[in-house]
Amino acid sequence: MCGIIGYVGDQSALDVALNGLRRLEYRGYDSSGVAVVGAGALRTARRAGKLANLEKLLSEGPEMNPMPGTTGMGHTRWATHGGPTDVNAHPHTDCTGAIAVIHNGIIENFAALRAELEGVGHELASETDTEVVAHLLEIELAGAEAGVVPEQPVAPPRAAAGAHPLTGALRRVCRRLEGAFTLVVLHRDYPEVVVGARRNSPLVVGLGQGEAFLASDVSAFIAHTREALEIGQDQVVEARRDGVTVTDFDGEIVEGRRYHVDWDASAAEKGGYPYFMLKEINEQPTALADTLRGRLSADGAIVLDEERLSAQDFRDVDKVFIVACGTAYHAGLIAKYAVEHWTRLPCEVEMASEFRYRDPVLDRSTLVIAISQSGETLDTLMAVKHAREQKARVLAICNTNGSTIPRESDAVLYTRCGPEVGVASTKTFLGQVAACLLVGLYLAQVRGVLYGDEVAAYVERLQRTPELVERTLARLEPMRELARSLAGAKAVLFLGRHVGYPVALEGALKLKELAYMHAEGFPAGELKHGPIALIEPGLPVLVIVPSPRGRANLHGKIVSNIQEVRARGARTIVIAEDGDVAVEPYADHLIRVPATASLFAPLVTTLPLQVFACELALARGLDVDQPRNLAKSVTVE
Ligand code: M6R
Repeated sequence: MCGIIGYVGDQSALDVALNGLRRLEYRGYDSSGVAVVGAGALRTARRAGKLANLEKLLSEGPEMNPMPGTTGMGHTRWATHGGPTDVNAHPHTDCTGAIAVIHNGIIENFAALRAELEGVGHELASETDTEVVAHLLEIELAGAEAGVVPEQPVAPPRAAAGAHPLTGALRRVCRRLEGAFTLVVLHRDYPEVVVGARRNSPLVVGLGQGEAFLASDVSAFIAHTREALEIGQDQVVEARRDGVTVTDFDGEIVEGRRYHVDWDASAAEKGGYPYFMLKEINEQPTALADTLRGRLSADGAIVLDEERLSAQDFRDVDKVFIVACGTAYHAGLIAKYAVEHWTRLPCEVEMASEFRYRDPVLDRSTLVIAISQSGETLDTLMAVKHAREQKARVLAICNTNGSTIPRESDAVLYTRCGPEVGVASTKTFLGQVAACLLVGLYLAQVRGVLYGDEVAAYVERLQRTPELVERTLARLEPMRELARSLAGAKAVLFLGRHVGYPVALEGALKLKELAYMHAEGFPAGELKHGPIALIEPGLPVLVIVPSPRGRANLHGKIVSNIQEVRARGARTIVIAEDGDVAVEPYADHLIRVPATASLFAPLVTTLPLQVFACELALARGLDVDQPRNLAKSVTVE
């Protein structure tokens, strides 16, 4: 939810931190802050609002280099405990001002810890949960009984890697914390280290030449190094110029998994577009093609990226659950149609945040498919953990190599969409839908429900969809114009049937999050059971029309639904495939998409809705990359 960067090396830590924060700002933009250790001092600066406010503060200072030093850290915040104010912005410091802490997540027992600290004389300045960590570290480093503020705060560092006093103190503090956290800490007297820890929240290490980075995701350091190291659950990392040491919370040294990041800094830049979202919408043909590339082995079998399950495990599956949040949940709803149609297995789709609280019936023959762009969404991660505790098998669909959800899963299929920086998911939704279709075909193949040649024919057809996506994107100027003309609308409804229903939900979500408009998606057939009362003259209603070649009668039914809303004054905006003439008399606006297989249709019908929401939000003067109140990756429950 928050963005974190830590650095130790030879460069200006302030420059590294600010550059990292520019790339991490999509994770949260309520406030930001930096801390640098150098010239015998720990200096911090923080400001409410977007990163630009912090940069302005730093540029207004009297000094040319307001924060000298080559060890430092930066934080961009999505507020949880305490509003987005200067005082609540990170870093937070202890009573002595020697220790600085930044944090992502929620420390659930912070109230008890705070009371304990205040009870022994510590003064906490902010309303955050984070600040308790700085004070707990102060106590640990003093080696004193709780409450005794040290006069000589620190001991000299010991030589052994992972045995640094700051590392040891952080381990001991972490053992007292409950909840989810990534922490990065600095100490005025220890410029040689930056130390981090994680539980249920992301932390990745960048390994450079004579320098190391700790960050929420690789985009923060990709301009410096593409060599990365995963940090596992309940682990502490001590980063120095000459390397890093990872231990568990008890101090045992553990091996992290190293990997090479297969995209570079340019992939995470705007590339001439005014907004990341516009760039990412246009990257969809490539993102989809990359996700689908090389999925059939020489003998015609679909290949996953990581498989820690046997073919027999998949054959034993008798029920599928899909868990995900937001846009990824909509991809899961589409997957249900494909999984049930192709495999004949019952498939339920659940919002991850609800899954574990309703006692789903799971056992070792249940397959849980977890979909997550970031691989860090805590609701989804907790659903995965719950599923595994109940002995279910978990297959992850994820866009982020090295993230937690794939690591906690038994099998993984990566969407290869590259970094998505715009808060609204676009290209990764297409990647998720394609990955879901591949998983459906994989299950059908391994269970022998579809023949190999049938699976291959589907995959080959799927691999032709990037070209359809490209053609669709090239035709959307009328949609842009229409969106601009509707900038003053109060609300918009989205209707669909079959796989068009999740597409309607996704269109409504995009409009809500980007344009701050009331928008609802409904199954078109459900309308007459209540929502039709919302229709009033002039209300824009977007309808995603299934192919006339698809499920029997479905097309005719939705044409009737269009007539029903139009008869009550709605302004109908109809998305229909080429050659569908039956809708023409009832469409106030007709947006054409190329024809494709019914189950693949979301790969094209979603595009006009993304463009509609983006353009309408821009016409309202809004920032489509960083909508209010949101953050890209939600690492709190
Ligand atoms: O990283 P995830 O795919 O797990 O994120 C899940 C949702 O938070 C996400 O899809 C969100 O709804 C979208 N960014 C909205 O566009």
